[in-house]
Amino acid sequence: MPGNSFGQFFKITTWGESHGPALGVVIDGCPPLLPLDVSDIQQELDRRRPGKGGPASTTRKEPDKVEILSGVFEGKTTGTPISLLIWNKDAKSSSYDKLKNIFRPGHGDFTYLKKYGIRDHRGGGRASARETAARVAAGAVAQILLNQHNIEVIAYTVALANITIENRNLNEIYENRLFCPDNEAAKKMEQEIAKIRSQGDSAGGVVEVVAKGVPPGLGEPVFDKLDAEIAKALMSIGAVKGVEIGAGFKAASMLGSQNNDPISPKGFLSNNAGGILAGISNGEDIIARAAIKPIPSIAKEQDTINISGAPEKLVVGGRHDASAIPRIVPVCQAMMRLVLADHLLRQRAIAQ
Ligand SMILES: Cc1cc2nc3c(=O)[nH]c(=O)nc-3n(C[C@H](O)[C@H](O)[C@H](O)COP(=O)(O)O)c2cc1C
Repeated sequence: MPGNSFGQFFKITTWGESHGPALGVVIDGCPPLLPLDVSDIQQELDRRRPGKGGPASTTRKEPDKVEILSGVFEGKTTGTPISLLIWNKDAKSSSYDKLKNIFRPGHGDFTYLKKYGIRDHRGGGRASARETAARVAAGAVAQILLNQHNIEVIAYTVALANITIENRNLNEIYENRLFCPDNEAAKKMEQEIAKIRSQGDSAGGVVEVVAKGVPPGLGEPVFDKLDAEIAKALMSIGAVKGVEIGAGFKAASMLGSQNNDPISPKGFLSNNAGGILAGISNGEDIIARAAIKPIPSIAKEQDTINISGAPEKLVVGGRHDASAIPRIVPVCQAMMRLVLADHLLRQRAIAQ
């Protein structure tokens, strides 16, 4: 089916639904002889797993245990398609029975039915955040390739529920459940999100993704510019409603003299460009931010319609996050990894 694949040289195809038996990903184009152990993938999945994010998180408990079905032999990639499988173990489909004929506001229920004439209403089907487990698994494999080029990709929460970080101490990211580089701000975010959840509501925030060690020269003008690819990669994640690179929207209110990054013999003196000029990496850190909307399933009564078009009142049940943050953070990181792995291989194809 079109639209389920991403990348050209390092190409992934994800498959599966929230309440089907399993989901997974096929990675085609991964070079041979990369060291790959299932634990490399598992540790990334463990960071995205449902139920890991404290008061912000869903109570669905999925082990998210990944199996490698193909493409790896004696601990090394073989160059053939790598197929990864994750079983759905804790899907409680009955809690979605009452949603079979009703459209949830903020979800893809209405649009999926209009598009296909049929939809799997259980847990959001293909539009569910479960699909992002496959992306995280693929991103872990991409990182093995990036390791060979000493490229590191970090993602973290810079805002949640209207609380913004005051410090960017990357050492603190793994010291709190929100992947926040400011422990003090993380405490306030936890309190705020717990309050919002107890009111039956949800909240959004901002995730920042930084790639360090990216060599100059990645990105394919004109339509596959590196910033365009990153924007698409992040925008393809559910609940992402905006993407900016470097100074982003702030650039619109800067003067040219403020926004340009001066160049010295030692390199660039600032990084408003977010590491990309004319769609090609310039060797500086690549910096992207994604705006995450409040998750749509809320326990407050909302107006909607049923499939016959008649008005309905709806209170969404089931187990839901109060925010897609923090679970979306490893997903943003994975998408950046996939873009960079793909463009490394594309650059390798033309390099002299
Ligand atoms: C990691 C992650 C977790 C999410 N968790 C939930 C959730 O528990 N409940 C929910 O209603 N939406 C959740 N969402 C958001 C919906 O999947 C998304 O808003 C919906 O499919 C509509 O897509 P759109 O927001 O891109 O328009 C989550 C998204 C992500 C990426």
